Amino acid sequence: MAGRGRLAGKAAIVTGAAGGIGRAISLRFAEEGAGVVAADIDGAGAERTAGAVAEAGGRAMACACDVSQSRSAKAAVEAALKRFGAIHVLVNNAAIWVGDASVVDLDEADWQRAVAVNLTGAFLMSKHAVPAIIAAGGGSVIHVASQLAHVARPGRPWYCATKGALIQLARAMAVDHAAGRVRVNTLSPGPTLTEKNIALYGGIERVTAEMGGRTLFNRLAEPREIAEAAVFLASDESSFMTGADLLVDGGYLAR
Ligand SMILES: NC(=O)c1ccc[n+]([C@@H]2O[C@H](COP(=O)([O-])OP(=O)(O)OC[C@H]3O[C@@H](n4cnc5c(N)ncnc54)[C@H](O)[C@@H]3O)[C@@H](O)[C@H]2O)c1
Repeated sequence: MAGRGRLAGKAAIVTGAAGGIGRAISLRFAEEGAGVVAADIDGAGAERTAGAVAEAGGRAMACACDVSQSRSAKAAVEAALKRFGAIHVLVNNAAIWVGDASVVDLDEADWQRAVAVNLTGAFLMSKHAVPAIIAAGGGSVIHVASQLAHVARPGRPWYCATKGALIQLARAMAVDHAAGRVRVNTLSPGPTLTEKNIALYGGIERVTAEMGGRTLFNRLAEPREIAEAAVFLASDESSFMTGADLLVDGGYLAR
């Protein structure tokens, strides 16, 4: 598996890899030949993802990592370099959900937590990984944003603000690091059928009724459908794309 595939010869760090979209990206990257560091604050979940990759014949290591802490982000990068010798791809996918509230009702601590993980986490991982990507001859950084980086929903100021900021962070990084052959893009999923969403809405039927209906297909995305776009952004197939947002939202924003 390592010798062929659209990501053959590449090593990738995927944050938030214990479940949902991050796990799907880890599995698809490994299927395409990448060595994968499955990083998550949930170390046991990261181990399960790395185990699933290995079971499918791929190469992965788990890394317990809190992306909001500089030392932890740096350690994840060092672990990746030790295991694979280089880093070509970084996927900043880790995020937290702090609950629905307007700015008036939102706890200040919840705002700080959301910014620390959803936005500062992408900064810290990039800060430590980009020099390694440049040293490897270039590569791809992908920040996972959201359709809610573009439009708002009630009670989501912390989410919309952090996701919108990731799009501008990607553009600014693209400008700074094009000379180092580092492409930086965002991937904006629409509603996706993850364990988190199923639990949040109280079952598949309810999440499909409430979130699926906002897409033109009347369903949520499968995590794998989002992972396919991540493979494209990570691979050389997207070699002329940088500073862009790839929207995979089932037409959520089309009407
Ligand atoms: N699921 C959706 O409908 C949807 C839609 C648009 C965008 N997104 C975005 O896609 C990404 C993945 O979403 P998901 O639904 O798979 O989420 P998820 O909650 O299933 O996964 C997020 C992962 O991040 C990890 N994490 C949380 N804090 C961390 C930290 N400090 N350090 C390291 N890891 C940490 C969690 O343990 C979890 O495994 C997120 O950025 C999310 O905002 C999701």
